[in-house]
Amino acid sequence: NLSGLDLRAEIDRLRKERNAVILAHYYQKPEIQDIADFVGDSLELSRIAAETDADVIAFCGVKFMAETAKILSPDKIVVLPDMDAGCSLEDSCPPDQFAAFRAKHSDHIALTYINCSTEVKALSDIIVTSSSAEKILSQIPMDQKIIFGPDKHLGGYLVRKLGREMLLWPGVCIVHEAFSETELLKLKAQYPDAPVAAHPECPAHIIDHADMVGSTSAILKFAKETTSTTVIVATEPHIIHQMEKAVPEKTFIGAPGADGNCNCNICPYMALNTMEKLYVALRDLTPRIEMDEELRLNAKKSLDRMLEMAS
Ligand code: 13P
Ligand code: SF4
Repeated sequence: NLSGLDLRAEIDRLRKERNAVILAHYYQKPEIQDIADFVGDSLELSRIAAETDADVIAFCGVKFMAETAKILSPDKIVVLPDMDAGCSLEDSCPPDQFAAFRAKHSDHIALTYINCSTEVKALSDIIVTSSSAEKILSQIPMDQKIIFGPDKHLGGYLVRKLGREMLLWPGVCIVHEAFSETELLKLKAQYPDAPVAAHPECPAHIIDHADMVGSTSAILKFAKETTSTTVIVATEPHIIHQMEKAVPEKTFIGAPGADGNCNCNICPYMALNTMEKLYVALRDLTPRIEMDEELRLNAKKSLDRMLEMAS
């Protein structure tokens, strides 16, 4: 029974006792973002996980992120407050089907979004995040054929933006898929001066209305720096917490789903992590990410290429 515990103080105490670092993605609940040592996008959190000298990484995000931390920092204990925190993109891409797809297109290299399983990373040549994808793709020779998975919307955005064909795996993020174009247009009519900042996991019919497209960190930077006082945010709405902290005088509106509000765009996987579960994870050092060493080394190759090409 955890009622009566001062969770903030207890998490703080355990963090010091365990020599732990708490990493949180921008889609985490505000109280988790506030207690984290670092809040960031997928690339930033991967870099911190690779470089930290902490003994324990408490990863407040989803499973593929905690697994990435373990791949890059195998000697650390990596805990994930809720092991059921998955991702619809990872689920859309079972490793055996991905292996068959690769075998069918053996003259293609596999450029793969970090939102996938460790097995799929091991089957890939280069990993990308939303903040590194354009930079990495532009370093690949134009005559090299490419498979891009599992996010067909990020893939489609890159194809349109860089004018280069890729074979796309048909996966989607259920959160970004849920934005409604009709409701977004209504909101834009209501706030004609507000720019729309969108994540590239959004479908094209949302991206088409965006003034800025980028990773969570890029969207946050845009929100801080734009001269506009109201911004429409087309990504998971928990990121608005950081925007309100940084520029409280501005107004941030989450892009709506079909019901006209942004609640259906909360990531159900990210939402599984709570302060209670973070406390238990630090106290018991479980649920812990464990991984076969051969699989880890194979997955690390494609992640290392990302870190080299993105730097
Ligand atoms: P980034 O934070 O890298 O933009 O990724 C967004 C996301 O959907 C993570 O699951
Ligand atoms: Fe996966 Fe989308 Fe949730 Fe990110 S927001 S973890 S891509 S389901």
